Amino acid sequence: MSENLSTPVPGSADHPRGDAVLADLERLSIELATAAGRFIRDDRPSQVRVADTKSTDTDVVTVMDRESETLLRRLIVAARPDDAILGEEGADVPGTTGLTWVIDPIDGTVNYLYDIPAYAVSVAVVEGDPHEDGAWWPIAGAVGDPCLRLVHHARRGGGAWTRREGVTDDDQPKRLAVSGETTLDRTLLATGFGYSAQVRARQAEVLRRVLPQVRDIRRIGSAALDLVRVADGSVDAYAESGLNAWDLAAGWLIVEEAGGVVVGLAQRPGKALTVAAGQGLVEQLRALFTEQ
Ligand code: IPD
Repeated sequence: MSENLSTPVPGSADHPRGDAVLADLERLSIELATAAGRFIRDDRPSQVRVADTKSTDTDVVTVMDRESETLLRRLIVAARPDDAILGEEGADVPGTTGLTWVIDPIDGTVNYLYDIPAYAVSVAVVEGDPHEDGAWWPIAGAVGDPCLRLVHHARRGGGAWTRREGVTDDDQPKRLAVSGETTLDRTLLATGFGYSAQVRARQAEVLRRVLPQVRDIRRIGSAALDLVRVADGSVDAYAESGLNAWDLAAGWLIVEEAGGVVVGLAQRPGKALTVAAGQGLVEQLRALFTEQ
């Protein structure tokens, strides 16, 4: 399935695994996000079938979420049989390399269900234990945006990039950079909401405080695409509580490699809170989202 993808500017990564290994993981992430992205777009049935619900009746799993995860899992096992896999739809495969592929086969499932063209495939390789908040970190990853036929990607130390889906060496990927905004009242802030009514009620309370203090908010419906938007500067910041590892793993790295900062209540982002923005904004937003 390899598509002769050019490697972006060599990284300055002094990661112990070495930049060549990271570059291979990034390349595979791009291939996986592309393959699953094409699948969910090109094989999307006119009536998307809901297979099940999870935390609430509105937290749906479609047949395509499951099939996309099965595809990703099959491709990962074929390419990297010793790595672990953790997927939104239940994949939890142990490994022996210290690397876990953290995958969201459709991020923005509700948009997918309604045929709103803002959904993504998120694929990341992480170290640490992604089952536990704060105990893991991404080292390579990609977010496929099949509706725009784009793939956004990064590896630790290698910069963040956007390329067109399925192109080869001749195409120049575009380097991403976060916005330079530093003032809260000029900040365009992306956010999202969980599926449970109680969580939403709390999130609405926080928004009552936040909304008068920023330029405006956007609720796009895919955390992975929200993070990519922070990375490419098309929003200034993103903040949400309740995210799972698969929602944020690839986007977290893409934001950092685009010069941004991603934090949580503590240093690493996670379920309690994820805030992503440029250096000059991130602490102001963390304070706003954690004020009692
Ligand atoms: C959801 C989306 C949404 C965010 C939710 C996530 P899913 O993921 O990323 O934007 O607000 O918190 O759960 O369910 O579409 O994979």
